[in-house]
Amino acid sequence: MSQLTQSSAWQALQKHRQSLLQFSLREAFVSDPKRFERFSLRLDDLLLDYSKNLITQDTMPLLMELARQAKVEAWREKMFSGEKINFTENRAVLHTALRAATDTRHPPLRVEKSDVLTGIRHVLEKMRLFSNSVRNGVWRGYTGKPITDVVNIGIGGSFLGPLMVCQALQPYSSPKLRAHFVSNVDGADIATKLALLDPETTLFIIASKTFTTQETLMNARSAKEWLLSHANDQKQVAKHFVALSTNAKLVTDFGIDPSNMFEFSDWVGGRYSLWSSIGLSIALYVGMDKFEELLIGGYDMDVHFREAPLEQNMPVIMALIGLWYRNFFDATSYAILPYDQSLESFMAYFQQADMESNGKSVDRQGNAVDYETGPVLWGGTGTNGQHAYYQLIHQGTQMIPADFIAPARSQHPIGEHHATLLSNYFAQAEALMKGKTAAEARAELESSGMDAAAIEILLPHKVFAGNKPTNSIMFDLLTPRTLGRLVALYEHKIFVQGIIWNLNSYDQWGVELGKQLAAHIQPELRGAETVTSHDASTNGLINYYKSLARKS
Ligand code: F6P
Repeated sequence: MSQLTQSSAWQALQKHRQSLLQFSLREAFVSDPKRFERFSLRLDDLLLDYSKNLITQDTMPLLMELARQAKVEAWREKMFSGEKINFTENRAVLHTALRAATDTRHPPLRVEKSDVLTGIRHVLEKMRLFSNSVRNGVWRGYTGKPITDVVNIGIGGSFLGPLMVCQALQPYSSPKLRAHFVSNVDGADIATKLALLDPETTLFIIASKTFTTQETLMNARSAKEWLLSHANDQKQVAKHFVALSTNAKLVTDFGIDPSNMFEFSDWVGGRYSLWSSIGLSIALYVGMDKFEELLIGGYDMDVHFREAPLEQNMPVIMALIGLWYRNFFDATSYAILPYDQSLESFMAYFQQADMESNGKSVDRQGNAVDYETGPVLWGGTGTNGQHAYYQLIHQGTQMIPADFIAPARSQHPIGEHHATLLSNYFAQAEALMKGKTAAEARAELESSGMDAAAIEILLPHKVFAGNKPTNSIMFDLLTPRTLGRLVALYEHKIFVQGIIWNLNSYDQWGVELGKQLAAHIQPELRGAETVTSHDASTNGLINYYKSLARKS
């Protein structure tokens, strides 16, 4: 048995779980009128209501004890102070430094003796100068026209973060500059984007931490060929290509002017990199001031996470509640449900952040874990989900804890739209919590005039068990600062869970095998020879592909 499952805190939680077999959220709200006050927390306008969870007053102290036994506070300090907690890659985990750099009074933060904050501020200044010159029309394309379209070419963290933030902050964008994102190596992605663009006024941002990612480099090469097919002059590449990377050598080899490279350090994980120069497309789209407000929002949450006692700590509470369901209720998945169309990629962003971070089955000592780790993350914007997959959350056989997220005010106020949206936000969490009893369903059917025999047939289908756990997160308006807080909240939640599960949340070796095999397969797809080097299924598929491709 692992130390974790043997720990007194874990054992106490298992026992406590048994005592909750008859727990009813509906009754808990009736018997405790202060349940909302007891189980909710605010950071300025950002509210976390966790009262609709399967918890009693005894649950949180037991969960807090689990966090303490896992030494969450000590690990948190190791992360913030730049210790190399990503030990399988021998790296610090310091995306928080990118946010701390906005605090001019922050003491120096040293990694290998040099102060990282100075370097970060230098890059921020370079980003400011560059984004201003593009946005002001000073930076011009090869025919002297100002830039109208920015294309971020990148994948994973070099794509999802900038995409998510640009969508979320669209109301702050300049109408003179459009942002596009190309990630998939499927030619359809870049071809359909290029078809809409004018090479004279398009700027490509090649975003890749390593600058070795197959998909990104292939898309970047196709973009360069497209530009050169119009500009016919290698020298013009400098006006249309910039790079965001840690790898100066490969950027130069690719043909991008090193002065057009915006650096960051290897202690920024790919999925935590939107705060680094990887956020350049954000700075271009909404302006550097707004990008810095986003950083300040992230820093607000960092300060809260670092300083608030565990009992009053939003990321800690969210992490513990998530872990409660994952490890003690066998919840295999977790839904993020923003009631804000601007957050349409929020879930996809955290799908990578969470699943790449905590999708691990070996602990920090290299032992196979004997407990569940990261859940499957999924979801999407309300109310669309209500007409698609919510049925399973309400009446399916699995428990799916969910986060409902909504702003009090819309960035796009039109008539009654926002009030209608929010009525659904409130109603869904209430419905999941309360359910509908057989007696309530029967009374409803009777009052509709239905005859007794028909009621008996329909009744079981109309009953909702309820008792489905949710968090509700609400804030005033989706500003850059609020978004920064929200993103950092989820990041730290992932950190806390990773610490308790005794994982290295900052490597991602699981993505390597497929990359290696693809590199082996690619040359095999070229010739006409029958491929025999794999298992029967893979050989069969490759050869079937070749037979079809030959026909075209
Ligand atoms: O393959 C996974 C991954 O390494 C992610 O962690 C990362 O965000 C993505 O690829 C892109 O990597 P890069 O920024 O180095 O191109």
